[in-house]
Parts: sequence; structure tokens; C-alpha cells
Amino acid sequence: MTTTHQKHSADELKAIFEDYLFTKGYEGFPEVLYKPALQIMKMKAKRIRPVLLLTACEAFGGDIKEALDTACAIEIYHNFTLVHDDIIDEADIRRNETTVHKAFGINKAILTGDAMLLHAIHLLNKAPRDKHFALLTAFEKVAAEVIEGEQYDVDFENIPEVSLGEYQNMIRLKTSVLLAAALHMGAILGNASAEDRRNIYNFGEKLGLAFQIKDDYLDTFGDQKTFGKRIGGDILQSKKTYLLCLSLSKADEAQRREIFRVFDEKDEEKKIHGMKAIYEQLNVHKDTFAIMEKFYDEALASLGALSIGRKQSEYLYELAESIYKRSF
Ligand code: IPE
Ligand code: IPE
Ligand code: MG
Ligand code: MG
Ligand code: MG
Repeated sequence: MTTTHQKHSADELKAIFEDYLFTKGYEGFPEVLYKPALQIMKMKAKRIRPVLLLTACEAFGGDIKEALDTACAIEIYHNFTLVHDDIIDEADIRRNETTVHKAFGINKAILTGDAMLLHAIHLLNKAPRDKHFALLTAFEKVAAEVIEGEQYDVDFENIPEVSLGEYQNMIRLKTSVLLAAALHMGAILGNASAEDRRNIYNFGEKLGLAFQIKDDYLDTFGDQKTFGKRIGGDILQSKKTYLLCLSLSKADEAQRREIFRVFDEKDEEKKIHGMKAIYEQLNVHKDTFAIMEKFYDEALASLGALSIGRKQSEYLYELAESIYKRSF
């Protein structure tokens, strides 16, 4: 017998989730690392992944009370990756606040991240017994993929050029699959069929590609106050972003020489300014928005394939749109 539960909007789910996170989510966390863990967790964040998970759970008729520990696990895992990512990317600011390694030192940040990863598993172990194995299997797969993607991202810093295909695979691993897994895990908790789980995963994977390309775009052309990270950070770290890969594929010989010259520029402001000028000259904005739209449309096609129908998945459509249109 299936029971129907009241469905919540994204804002309601975010509030319910944050309340649970800060009352129950950290029970059992190592005392000695609690302060740095809270430093990142308390920052103002979008909470996209837990909200996706809870929305998926409810769309299939599940009860979010049974999904809150898993939602915390996913958000804490995500924040673990950010703590380590900020060390790797030498980032001083996240969500408009000081990053953990800047506030507490690198060693504490590494160990805080490690403790967060393990705490995510601790929370997953609280999931309903009949869902436990499927959830843990999904988690260990995605957790390994994200780390693999992060390593490609780092490796690419030292390669002059990567293809758009290699770029896409890197962002699929470092970012997309976590959105996909959050939805997939929500679907498991909502007792969705295998086919629905597959379709909702595909929806998240495509949405995640658009999401990371937007992140790349905002890193160069966003507003620091709303984006919460240093504008130009990717350029300074020689990251292979969509903007850069696309520029290299569009540029003629002279423009390519100019790109590589600017990339070697040591003066930070000159480097950021120089790369922005090249992006504008090559009009990469247009292509960037076109590719995002393509992935967004593909994401919606997978959403349309769900067996539950349009009305039952309305909040998933709304969430997809708000994630796609974000400016922070
Ligand atoms: C940041 O994730 C890392 C990326 C994958 C781009 P979000 O943009 O979801 O950041 P928060 O959690 O809302 O701060
Ligand atoms: C996002 O990479 C992926 C992970 C953190 C796993 P970014 O390096 O682009 O993320 P931000 O821009 O620092 O949030
Ligand atoms: Mg990074
Ligand atoms: Mg980063
Ligand atoms: Mg980024």
C-alpha cells in the first residue's frame, strides 16, 4: 500500500533540512573538529543536493522523515569536498566568508574534511534497513567519482589544452554525479522503480553539467557579493573551464598565442583582465548559454520520462528551473 504525504516546496524543504542538520545532523561528530566543521556548515549555502534528494523522495510518495539523515549525509559529504577543494584551489573566500583552511590552518582543514566524510557514512547507516544497501552502494560509487573528477581538474591545470569532451567528463565526475546521486537516493527512499531511478539520475547528471558550466561562467563574470567566491579564481589557478576550452577551440593562431601569453602572466589583475578580454572578443558568452540550454533541455527530457507524470513531479521542474537560472 502506498501512502501519500504532503509535498513541500523547495524553500520549505530547505528550512526543514537545516533545522534537522543543526539539531540532529552532527550528533556523534568528533568534538575536537566540531568548530571548523561548523565554520563551513553554518555558512549561507543553497543546499541544492539535500533539497533535490528530499524533493525526489516526496515526488515518489516517500516520507521525508525517513530521508533526513541521508540528506544530511549528502550535504556534509558535499561540504567535505568544498573544504578540501578550497585547499587545492587556494581559495580564501567561500559563501562570502573565510574558508576553513584560512581560518584554522591546512592540517585542521584536512582532518575536518576527513571527519565529515566519515560522518556522512555514519548518517547513511541510520537509513531504513530495507534501503540501506542500495543507498550505501550509490554513495560509495559517487563519493569515489567526485574525488576522481577533482583529480582530473587538478591534472588539467598543468596541461596546456584539453578537449571539450575531456572537460565534460571532468565536470561530470567532479560535480554532476553528486546531483544525480542525490536525486537517485531520494528516489530509492521514495520506493521508485528501477526505471524511474535511472531517469531521475540522468536528469541530475544533465542538470549538473549545466550547473557546473554556470559555475565556471559566474567565476569569471559573476558578482562577488552574490557569488560568494573570488571572481577570477579559476583564471588565476589556470583551471580548464568551459570558457577556456571553448575559447581554445574557437581561436585562430594569433588568438591562441595571446591566450597562452596571458596564461603565463604573473600579475593577478592583468591575468584576469586579459582572459576576460579574450573571452569577450571570442564572444564565448553566447556559446556558453547555448550549451547550458542544451543540457537543461536534455535534463527536462529525462524528467518527462518519469512514470509519475507532470503534476506529481512539479516541484522537480521548479527546482530544475531555479538551479538553471541561478546567479549565485
Ligand atoms: C559549489 O557548489 C561547488 C560546485 C560544484 C560548483 P554549490 O554551488 O552548490 O555551493 P553551495 O553549497 O550552495 O555553497
Ligand atoms: C567543484 O569545483 C567541485 C567540487 C568541489 C567537488 P570548483 O572548484 O569549481 O568549486 P568552487 O567553484 O570552488 O565552489
Ligand atoms: Mg576545484
Ligand atoms: Mg574550487
Ligand atoms: Mg568553480
